[in-house]
Amino acid sequence: MVKTNKTQSILYSLDELRPIRSSVDQCRTHLMKFIEQYKSMNVLDVETRLLNRCVYKNWNARRAELGIQASRRTVRLLEQFLSKREQHLEQILSEFKPDHVEIRLPSRGTLNQLLNSLEESLLLLSKVKRFSKVTVDRLRVECNRANYVHYNILMMSLCSRIYFLVVALEKSQKEFCFNMPVYLDYARFLSKAATRRQPSAIREATQLFARSPPTTISFASGSPNTSLFPFKEATITLIDGTNIQLDPSAMSKALQYLPTPGQADLLDWFKKLQNRYHSPRDFKRYDLCITNGSMEGLGKVFELVLNPGDSILVDSPCYSGSLDFLRGFGADIVSIDTDSNGMNDKHLNEILSNWPETKTFPKALYTIPNGSNPTGASMNFERRKTIYEIAKKYDLLIIEDDPYYFLQFTKPEPSFLSMDIDGRVIRLDSMSKVLSAGMRLGFVTAPVPLWQKLVYHQQVTSMHASSLSQMVALKLFEKWNLSGFDEHTQRIAKFYENQKTLMVDAISKHLKEKKIQLEVLNLFLNSQSSIFSKEDFELKVIKNNTYLDMVTFNEPTAGMFIWIKILGIQDTRKLIYEKALAKEVLLLPGSAFFVDQSKSYPFVRVSYSLCTPEQMETGMTRFGKVLREELAC
Ligand SMILES: Cc1ncc(COP(=O)(O)O)c(C=O)c1O
Repeated sequence: MVKTNKTQSILYSLDELRPIRSSVDQCRTHLMKFIEQYKSMNVLDVETRLLNRCVYKNWNARRAELGIQASRRTVRLLEQFLSKREQHLEQILSEFKPDHVEIRLPSRGTLNQLLNSLEESLLLLSKVKRFSKVTVDRLRVECNRANYVHYNILMMSLCSRIYFLVVALEKSQKEFCFNMPVYLDYARFLSKAATRRQPSAIREATQLFARSPPTTISFASGSPNTSLFPFKEATITLIDGTNIQLDPSAMSKALQYLPTPGQADLLDWFKKLQNRYHSPRDFKRYDLCITNGSMEGLGKVFELVLNPGDSILVDSPCYSGSLDFLRGFGADIVSIDTDSNGMNDKHLNEILSNWPETKTFPKALYTIPNGSNPTGASMNFERRKTIYEIAKKYDLLIIEDDPYYFLQFTKPEPSFLSMDIDGRVIRLDSMSKVLSAGMRLGFVTAPVPLWQKLVYHQQVTSMHASSLSQMVALKLFEKWNLSGFDEHTQRIAKFYENQKTLMVDAISKHLKEKKIQLEVLNLFLNSQSSIFSKEDFELKVIKNNTYLDMVTFNEPTAGMFIWIKILGIQDTRKLIYEKALAKEVLLLPGSAFFVDQSKSYPFVRVSYSLCTPEQMETGMTRFGKVLREELAC
């Protein structure tokens, strides 16, 4: 029960906290109710000890009772809770306007976990500063015995005190004991050009100015005077009808040079994304650099590790943008077969274990783990673990190109970044499929020694990704918070999943079954035996008719593409550019995605991102006709 005493404190008793035992959602609702209830009194003194103990006691008890499954469920609930935490914080800060803030980081985790929490807290602190005239007088770090990495924000105003539980994140301590990180010799991975790269004096100075106090008088900068630019401010209307505002001050920043890795606040948001979706085990070992789309990052990463002539292992088929870059660069591109689970570990092992002594051993493998372009394939967890183990065994870097991460239709598997214990993963993220392709925003997450060289490269090429795009993205993140971003990406994934289902239906309806006479089939199989085996065909005998599938494909669980193998047609390039185009239907011939483009391939890539259900139906009807004519049945 509530009791007020002379100092106007309120004691929050265990009885009132009972609903917290039920679920974290209830806990959140309850906390919000509690704040709602007492804010009018403008005097708050929550008995933090009880609240604290009760919440943890409850979660501990649940875990003990229900074991691992309960613990997973708890984590899920906690995650939902966490996704809203900034909102709550903002709400509380704007309502109570505290003038002292103390952030406590009680943690029993490793030092790294603690530092991660600290990093998160600093982000929160920057928010705190924006919301009130708070001077942060103390940042206290302490440990307790709870089996969680958690931190709490304690806010004190002159006569009030709110204890708000912000984060409680469960992590298994064992993981950290058994997987002690190894420290790689990063110099070994660097190309000759990357080894030579040194900081650009001017760019480093920009970074220094960005960090110096506003009272600093600088005669050093070569930046232009933004007051002379023709742009003053901007209002951007979002699809939900609300606006984001670039006032003159934001606009001035958006028109100016930036430090090379990116706008500091946007970098913080991207770090938050990495923490939220990948929880890198030791995030301190990595840093981020914002790039003009992930393609710029990819080019820079390839140049970071490769000398012309060096070998790199890639998915086959592979994203044509990367292949084209590597080809032009003069890399020795080594194709590793893929299947419905992405890069084939057996083929990878075979290639590496039989590597010719005369050839320099590869330093990196490049893969697209989710909704691959062009195959639509996603790696399952087992495959990821095996590939990681192989990379470990042969001391390879993993270049994880993941622009379709947010376009997943099933629960995401852990990324390579999240399972990286050695610091051998360079991850590329892209905002092209979620915010805008035209803003050209992506970011590279790389172990610091590699990141540093990549930044030096960026310093003397694009200098930095567009300041205007970065500012627009920042304003959007500030408006949305992580929860808004989460909702947005979930909506996107749903859209693409629906498109995928419609396209699969259209393909199955118009390309899958074709009546064929048995003699014709045998003739066909015999004549094409060099390309196809009988297993490629699904024969169905229905009412004395023999049916032959004209195509095979795997249904994707992420991304925007379906990779179709056309049975009985050797060269889809001719088929598409000569026959399909004439019937007004266009697909991408598979040859673009193979290292050897002089060969012919029986594949096409179908994209389901832009077309309407009607276009899918009409387009596949047309393509079905093309195939039937070509197969002459
Ligand atoms: C696998 C893959 N990587 C990278 C990119 C480049 O993306 P961005 O627009 O971020 O440069 C694409 C674009 O489609 C892609 O499919």
